[in-house]
Amino acid sequence: MAADSTALPPASAAGVPRHVAIVMDGNGRWARRRFMPRIFGHKYGMETVVRVIDECTRRGVEFLTIYAFSSENWKRPDEEVSGLMNLVLVGVSKYLARLAGNGVRIRVAGDRSAVSDRVRQAWNEAEECTRDNTGLTVTVAFNYGGRWDIVQACKRAIADGVTADQLTEGVLSRHMALAYAPDPDLFIRTGGEVRVSNFLLWQIAYAELYFTDCLWPDFDAAELDKAFAAYASRERRFGAVPAAAPASSQPASA
Ligand code: IPE
Ligand code: IPE
Ligand code: MG
Repeated sequence: MAADSTALPPASAAGVPRHVAIVMDGNGRWARRRFMPRIFGHKYGMETVVRVIDECTRRGVEFLTIYAFSSENWKRPDEEVSGLMNLVLVGVSKYLARLAGNGVRIRVAGDRSAVSDRVRQAWNEAEECTRDNTGLTVTVAFNYGGRWDIVQACKRAIADGVTADQLTEGVLSRHMALAYAPDPDLFIRTGGEVRVSNFLLWQIAYAELYFTDCLWPDFDAAELDKAFAAYASRERRFGAVPAAAPASSQPASA
């Protein structure tokens, strides 16, 4: 009998990152190669998001954080910005019920004060409707910037009465937008650029970085497997000494 491809791997499968953060880049170039407007690439990119959420769930990932709109993306033409805002409304109405039914918990990180009421309501609805779910936590970074996050965390800490003496890395972490999640283990950027572009600056201090030329709309299960295989092959040291090689492979002492 054929193996059940929908079977869930154990949540703690060895080598599977608990928290994956993705800079979903390359939508515009994907569209341009097809002589289509950039928003066409963003629409396909949204299908990729849903596919990657399913694949992360199947692999036992606990947290997936995706960069959907940066603090800097307001610099794009009005038409593209409004197209992206509209895609939020389309995406929530098209996919929310299905994702919620699959146990996905949606959270949104970013400055919501600058987006329209309709977009804010769509994000609020997505969070509200999935708040009791216990499956994959998907954080959509929207109007998000790593520098914004650090500043808002400082402001909230001050508002909470934290004094300079009391401010520690742990205290600041608890005020960051992703305080509910462990730091990302694996940072993926598609689209060929090798930069961070103001994503999760505080949280990726010790993430393993993986860059691929694959454009985001083309990213699929096989590409995710490649990223996970690269991750599984890394030795994470967090500043400590490398793990000792097995005794049998040690050169004999002179
Ligand atoms: C990333 O794709 C998606 C967003 C920034 C919203 P881009 O739109 O940056 O695509 P490229 O980099 O121009 O190809
Ligand atoms: C980063 O991609 C932002 C998102 C994926 C949402 P950009 O395309 O905006 O980054 P830069 O401008 O190439 O650094
Ligand atoms: Mg880009």
